[in-house]
Amino acid sequence: MMLNMSIWLGITLMLLCCTSWGSASTTSRYMRRLEEGVDLPENSTYFKIPKGYNAPQQVHIHQGDFEGKAVIISWITPDEAGDSKVLYGKAPGSKYTTSVTGEANTYSFYTYKSGYIHKAVISGLEFRTRYYYTLGTGDAAREFTFVTPPESKLDTPYAFGVIGDLGQTMDSVSTLQHYMKSFGQAVLYVGDLSYADAYPFDNNVRWDTWGRLVERSTAYQPWIWTAGNHELDYLPEVGETIPFQPYIHRYHVPFEASGSTSPLWYSIKRGPATIIVLSSYSAYGKYTPQYQWFLQTLEAVDRSVTPWLIILVHSPWYNSNSYHYYEGETMRVIFEPFVVKYKVDIVFSGHVHAYERTYPVSNVEYNIVNGLCTPKNDNSAPVYVVIGDGGNVEGLAGTFTDPQPAYSAFREASFGHGLLEIQNHTHAYFTWHRNQDGERVAADSAMFLNKYWT
Ligand SMILES: *[C@@H]1O[C@H](CO)[C@@H](O)[C@H](O)[C@H]1NC(C)=O
Ligand SMILES: *[C@@H]1O[C@H](CO)[C@@H](O)[C@H](O)[C@H]1NC(C)=O
Ligand SMILES: [Fe+2]
Repeated sequence: MMLNMSIWLGITLMLLCCTSWGSASTTSRYMRRLEEGVDLPENSTYFKIPKGYNAPQQVHIHQGDFEGKAVIISWITPDEAGDSKVLYGKAPGSKYTTSVTGEANTYSFYTYKSGYIHKAVISGLEFRTRYYYTLGTGDAAREFTFVTPPESKLDTPYAFGVIGDLGQTMDSVSTLQHYMKSFGQAVLYVGDLSYADAYPFDNNVRWDTWGRLVERSTAYQPWIWTAGNHELDYLPEVGETIPFQPYIHRYHVPFEASGSTSPLWYSIKRGPATIIVLSSYSAYGKYTPQYQWFLQTLEAVDRSVTPWLIILVHSPWYNSNSYHYYEGETMRVIFEPFVVKYKVDIVFSGHVHAYERTYPVSNVEYNIVNGLCTPKNDNSAPVYVVIGDGGNVEGLAGTFTDPQPAYSAFREASFGHGLLEIQNHTHAYFTWHRNQDGERVAADSAMFLNKYWT
């Protein structure tokens, strides 16, 4: 059965790569169990608390500016604030040349009180350089390392991982372990992080366990965050009426550097790509801050510096799964004309717990009364990839609409992650890796041609 499956998939992939629009849509017959997952227990070894008094935990880094020469380092100390100091340099061990001191904040959520959440920004870094950094002191000191991105230029290879809707089950662990065996240099994270809101009163202890789970990757390379619905933590019945508070306090992004007025939408350049992060759960209609910022940001992209233009948004605009079907439709209607006009290459989304890749399609002619409501092949339009299959407690979304719409190239309900290997200014190779295979196996793959340059 397994053998038949791989032959079958192999043939399908061969067909996909040499056929054009509409002639080869695949709904993979490879389906995993669909029941709900189970979160790891709070005392799971995957959530282990580092040793030493007040030891830094939940360490994660993010690009700290628009260009890629700064890094935001964030971590939590459980017992006291301490001094928010980061020692760093180009050599490991005690050979640090520099330090920077950030600041610590706390927040509360109903009866939960957070630890001390530190944020320090290291700036003036060199491109394409390995740095080491240490947090904490004495026997609680912990050292990590990261590599800065290459300077943005036309032909700059760079590999992004793509992960969404991760949660904290054994499936989440498997996704994380698979991804960490890849050559991904930064993660495009398409929203829904901890699923702490699956617990009574959104038990924020589960934000902490998640921070410790993902630290094994997030301390070493940036995960470019997108907010999903599970980041809302909106609980008016216990007085928590301001959405996104745990998320915003914990996950810092350099939104001001791209002229944004909210951490929920922002943009960075990283190597050959401009990444634009949107918020499905903030206002986006005409005249709203997000709408105006989005248009200005698209307008300002220089494709001779960052040839690749990528959007991250939690709720998909194209999705043929029955789960969350059409939830992203209003945002698609408002934003899609600009996405086509500015030749966005790829829109990555999560939310739906399955994988789906479309052909380059657009549906911008539809005006409610003209009946032109069928998406059509459009080489100026992006490819849409739904990849909310990180492995959270809610399980897989296994019911696809039937028949498979012509815009949908490949879809499968399995847990996994993606890898976008930008090779040069015209070619980027995308692969999807499901958890039941070894990391080297690609269950789906496609060569994406740059929309601006080809
Ligand atoms: C976690 O707690 C459960 C129940 O209290 C216990 O059975 C289990 O052995 C504990 N596991 C670890 C790794 O400490
Ligand atoms: C870009 O990469 C593709 C695929 O590897 C290759 O065929 C093409 O020649 C490359 N173009 C340039 C300008 O290097
Ligand atoms: Fe979601």
